[in-house]
Amino acid sequence: MPQVEVMDGEFHVFLEHEMTKEHYISCFAYVTSNYAQFVKLYPEQNAECRFTRRGHGAVYAYCNRHGLYKVLV
Ligand SMILES: [Fe+2]
Repeated sequence: MPQVEVMDGEFHVFLEHEMTKEHYISCFAYVTSNYAQFVKLYPEQNAECRFTRRGHGAVYAYCNRHGLYKVLV
């Protein structure tokens, strides 16, 4: 599951997951009732990103093999 930490007014999102061309986290998304932010990831990158906090919602991570993970924030 993605790990979410609050750092300097942002959510730092990271996931222990392989990032090979065959199997990787292809995006993260942060969604609230009136806001969404999306970060595309590529193989060989780290599976992490930062989102500006806009209140409670959910953070999603998408694995190209295993599908969607969701964490409430
Ligand atoms: Fe996976």
